[in-house]
Amino acid sequence: MLNDLPVQAEDALLALIGLYRDDPRKTKIDLGVGMYRDDLGKTVIMRAVKEAERRLWEAQDSKAYVGPEGDLVFTELLAREVLGAGWSATNVTGVQTPGGSGALRLAAELLAYQGPRTIWVGTPSWPNHKGIFGASGLNVKTHPYFDPRTQTVLLEEMLAALNGASPCDAVLLHASCHNPSGAALADDDWNAIASVVAQRGLIPLIDSAYQGFGRGVDGDREGLQTILAACPEALVAVSCSKSFALYRERTGAIFVSSDSSDKSAKAGGVLASLARVNYSMPPAHGAEVVRTILADEELRADWVTELESMRLRLIQIRRALASTLSGRVPSMAAIAQQEGMFSLLPLSAEQVMTLRHGDGIYMPESGRINIAGLRLDQVDELGGKLLRHLAQH
Ligand SMILES: Cc1ncc(COP(=O)(O)O)c(C=O)c1O
Repeated sequence: MLNDLPVQAEDALLALIGLYRDDPRKTKIDLGVGMYRDDLGKTVIMRAVKEAERRLWEAQDSKAYVGPEGDLVFTELLAREVLGAGWSATNVTGVQTPGGSGALRLAAELLAYQGPRTIWVGTPSWPNHKGIFGASGLNVKTHPYFDPRTQTVLLEEMLAALNGASPCDAVLLHASCHNPSGAALADDDWNAIASVVAQRGLIPLIDSAYQGFGRGVDGDREGLQTILAACPEALVAVSCSKSFALYRERTGAIFVSSDSSDKSAKAGGVLASLARVNYSMPPAHGAEVVRTILADEELRADWVTELESMRLRLIQIRRALASTLSGRVPSMAAIAQQEGMFSLLPLSAEQVMTLRHGDGIYMPESGRINIAGLRLDQVDELGGKLLRHLAQH
């Protein structure tokens, strides 16, 4: 049996970690994998997380099973944070999951539960979206979303595609900090999307993986709330990996919002049963940490303060990079307005390889850069190297 298995291509993004590590050049820059890094290039443990872990170590007296729906207090507190106090109180059910990927997987399996269904995904998107949805039995269709050359959101093209979608198709939306483009939607854009999604009877699946990195913890839920207000049924997949820097702890949740508590409860039951046959129960530690932070006013305030300082660092680097590049390539001014960790440069795969081999600048072939991988004192030098390629467009 094993002989006949196909050889899997390596995950190109994860492979970048090893390639970067093995490059001896002192001037190398890692703009690859999507983790926040500080000025020293470190992905640190947040202060509130450390303190929560200390408290848990002291207080925890059991490692008993928790059940497929995970930590119920965690999901309730997280719903309030991600959906807002008003929404979390109304007809919402949540199940804790192993990271945002686990949440997307359960969401996709729920969408596929009653038979074949199509999900619409913007181009470009996080590559694993298509992978997870396809593996869960959904039929993935794409619509235009972002043009790297002009650095603009293709809203009209997106709306036209969604207007052609069939009722009960699902549509994937990024809550904030679009991965890979960083392109932000204005309030009017969210309203226009909500109105088409509602009119066509589509089911939104909103991926919230970067709350706090765009407009702040409150601002980053506004678009999501516009969609929830317009749609009688919606799913929200949450990742705590970035917002709490808990990457390897695999912490997340899937929420169902509907116009009746009965419907949401039924969906919650199906999600728990899907969890049971996939991995039985989610890992406890990360959710306990998040619960401890969100349940304590002081710890929560410290988490918000630190997250805000991370957001401001990204804005500072964005502005510096945009000003270095936009003199020669005007479209690059948009980098300063974009949100979160990523921007998508209009580079060919060949240009990306030249930057990697010639200059030690590491990014995936798509041209996506992780802004957090940069220090302010590297911006000018990086800008010069990028301009050699960007100016050709
Ligand atoms: C848009 C988006 N959604 C979901 C995820 C999944 O995150 P997690 O590591 O929590 O599975 C990521 C991770 O990079 C992401 O970028």
